[in-house]
Amino acid sequence: MADDSYDLIVIGAGPGGYVAAIRAAQLGMRVACVEKEFLGGTCLNIGCIPSKALLESSERYREVKQSFSRHGIKVAGVELDLPTMMARKSEVVKALTSGVGFLFKKNKVDHLQGVAQITAPGTIEVTAAGGSPRSYSAKRILIATGSAPAALASMPFDGKSILSSTEALSLSEVPKRLLIIGAGYIGLEMGSVWNRLGSEVTVLEFLDRALPGMDREMAALLQKALERQGMKFRFNTAAESAKVENDKIKVTWKSGSESGIEEADRVLVAIGRKPVTNNLGLAELGVKLDAKGFILVNKDYATNIAGIYAIGDVIGGLMLAHKAEDEGIAAVERMAGQAGHVNYKVIPAVVYTHPELATVGLTDEEAKVKQIAIKVGKFPFSANGRARSIDETDGLVKIIAEAATDRVLGVQILGPHASDLIAEAAMVMEFAGSSEDVARTCHAHPTLAEAFREAALSVDKRAIHI
Ligand code: FAD
Ligand code: NAI
Repeated sequence: MADDSYDLIVIGAGPGGYVAAIRAAQLGMRVACVEKEFLGGTCLNIGCIPSKALLESSERYREVKQSFSRHGIKVAGVELDLPTMMARKSEVVKALTSGVGFLFKKNKVDHLQGVAQITAPGTIEVTAAGGSPRSYSAKRILIATGSAPAALASMPFDGKSILSSTEALSLSEVPKRLLIIGAGYIGLEMGSVWNRLGSEVTVLEFLDRALPGMDREMAALLQKALERQGMKFRFNTAAESAKVENDKIKVTWKSGSESGIEEADRVLVAIGRKPVTNNLGLAELGVKLDAKGFILVNKDYATNIAGIYAIGDVIGGLMLAHKAEDEGIAAVERMAGQAGHVNYKVIPAVVYTHPELATVGLTDEEAKVKQIAIKVGKFPFSANGRARSIDETDGLVKIIAEAATDRVLGVQILGPHASDLIAEAAMVMEFAGSSEDVARTCHAHPTLAEAFREAALSVDKRAIHI
């Protein structure tokens, strides 16, 4: 049937898939996007957006209780209304997911509701809930099926006591004691939310540090800030097993020769995410995966099977929404003969704690491993006028510049609005800028961004305010 044939069918309407579908339609392709659950994928429904909504609400609650008095504002009778906080989160999600539906209509992308399976190159079957499979054909198929929480074999998710991030975003009451396994993005962000709302939060981490892969000095400073907020960390510790008794969970842990039991009301397992490739028909088609199950692609995001492409979390690398989006755009632009590309050296990453930790490019440790001689500039927010006036003086900006050329190779920012400040650093790196370029750029006063400029000045030891 003519109506059922497309230039491109995208499987998955997360930030990778829906953005790819819209861009492909802009480029003149006839596009459909299949989604088995909700438009917006993990990011909009059970990831970036609801977590940031709760981080914002919980931080305001903490501020009213702990910081307003410093500003001379007395507030009595502060109470938590968790159902309203959760309802606001759901409203934010709903507004954004329905926005994706609107964008599909505007760009004439057909939204196919159901589970997709590739039955042959160029052919997929979509099965809606309670319906029978319907076949569609496409010149190209783009897999953007994303990722799902990884479970611990010794304590599988039960959705009630042993939770993934999905349930941790929708608890109906504040757990008295929350044990988190994994000191990564989710452990620190969701730990912050529930700690601010009143839980006693303990984080067990397998490694000797939080946020592996990020700048060690910055991660340690963030850990200290979170400890001051009441979170507890136990490093070099493996969670071995869990036993649920009378709505309490006893988790047995091992750390070197030491072992013990930690009791909690809820356990959040946040040890990473795994690609979603099941029931897509990939094995039957012979689509190659790597050892961890991620789909292997070449520079055009093409798999080893002609006409089948993949992007986003399902191909691995940094599992971030903006990386998935950029890959979606690059993949369809390359299909259209354009020169779409992703600069993997300049992908910012942000942990939305308080203070926020944002990073782009190389850390000093990574530069050392690559044997690149570097100069490092640092500037603390305690010496920045705006940070002082908003009472947010924790943290610093760190710039890594190549010694020989002064080119900025990496930037780490721990501090207020680091998530927004990192965009300037990414822009400088994308344009192959130097620390001198940043140092010569006039920055408005008083702004947090002046700390970035001062860090650039500090690369050559000429910061003014320190
Ligand atoms: P997904 O968003 O996972 O979307 C895949 C979609 O495919 C899903 O909707 C799924 O239902 C659908 N699908 C799967 N199989 C099929 C099938 N067979 N048929 C039809 N549809 C199918 N990243 C950030 O950059 N910033 C953040 O602040 C951030 N916060 C996060 C917080 C949490 C709690 C979590 C869990 C993740 C967070 N992430 C964040 C990561 C981010 O959500 C992912 O990197 C991003 O969603 C990946 O996009 P994607 O399009 O590749 O896949
Ligand atoms: P993660 O990879 O960030 O962190 C997992 C942590 O668990 C690591 O520190 C790891 O060493 C530890 N770990 C692994 N196995 C363990 C074990 N058996 N016992 C104890 N610790 C163990 O994964 P996380 O936090 O689950 O998040 C998944 C991904 O989702 C992130 O990597 C990120 O890509 C994305 N995300 C991004 C966010 C953002 O951009 N702000 C927020 C939340 C998630």
